Formats: sequence, C-alpha cells, structure tokens
Amino acid sequence: MRRLAIWIMAITCLVDLSSCGTTSFTPPPVTVELVRNGSDPHRDIAMLSEGRALFVHRCIECHTLPAFWRYSTEDWPKIVDSMAHRSNLRPAERDAIVAYILAVRGQ
Ligand code: HEC
Repeated sequence: MRRLAIWIMAITCLVDLSSCGTTSFTPPPVTVELVRNGSDPHRDIAMLSEGRALFVHRCIECHTLPAFWRYSTEDWPKIVDSMAHRSNLRPAERDAIVAYILAVRGQ
C-alpha cells in the first residue's frame, strides 16, 4: 500500500513538472508599440487584443501554446490557416490571430 502511495506521488510530480514547462512563456500584452510593429493594414489595439485573446484561449485546446519564435513569419499565416478549421475560427478571427503573431514577431 505504501509503495502505491509513493508511485502516485511520483506520477503527480511528473505531471506537475510537465505542465509547468508548458507555461514557460507569456504572450506579450497588446501595446501601442506592438500595434506599430504589425503589418496588417487593418490592425489596431482592438484587433490585436482579440487576436491575443483567441490565441491564448483557443490555440491551447489541443496542445501547448506554440512559441512564436519556433516558426518563421512566412510559415505562421499557413499554420494558422491549417489550424483555423480545427479551432472553428471565423475569417476575421483567423486574421486577428495572424496579425497579433506577426506584430509580436516585429513584422
Ligand atoms: C482541435 C485541436 C487543435 C486546435 C484547436 C489547434 N490545434 Fe494546432 N495542432 C493540432 C494537431 C493535432 C497538431 C499536430 C500536427 C498536425 O496535424 O499538423 C497541431 C500542430 C500545431 C503546430 C505545429 C505544426 C508543425 O508543422 O510543426 C502549430 C504551430 C499549431 N498546431 C498551432 C496552432 C494554433 C496557432 C492554433 C490556434 C489558432 C491551434 N494550433 C489550434 C490540433 C489543434
């Protein structure tokens, strides 16, 4: 019985460790500077804030939040396109997420 308890503790620790690792970065807040960085002609504080909120809440439903720096600015629009139907994104929501990601990437 005691051995089982130790196993349960060990497994709980492992699970905790891996869930800590997934939140090791926080998507930056939307600021005036961030809006200036972006390239989408329709971008403004409201659009990028919506993009950030959607990214944070919807793109974490099936996997950990993907890190911005892991993919190029050319790849991001294609990746969000391929994830859009999985997340049931409307076209405007897809655009907002891409605009936010590219603004963070300084594009
Ligand atoms: C319904 C589940 C689901 C949702 C929601 C989802 N994804 Fe994914 N995502 C997956 C699966 C499954 C994979 C595994 C590989 C594949 O099929 O491309 C994946 C893979 C990825 C990858 C890795 C692709 C590669 O080529 O390395 C990225 C980046 C990604 N998703 C980003 C996102 C973003 C951004 C969103 C939000 C718009 C999102 N995902 C929402 C299921 C989801």
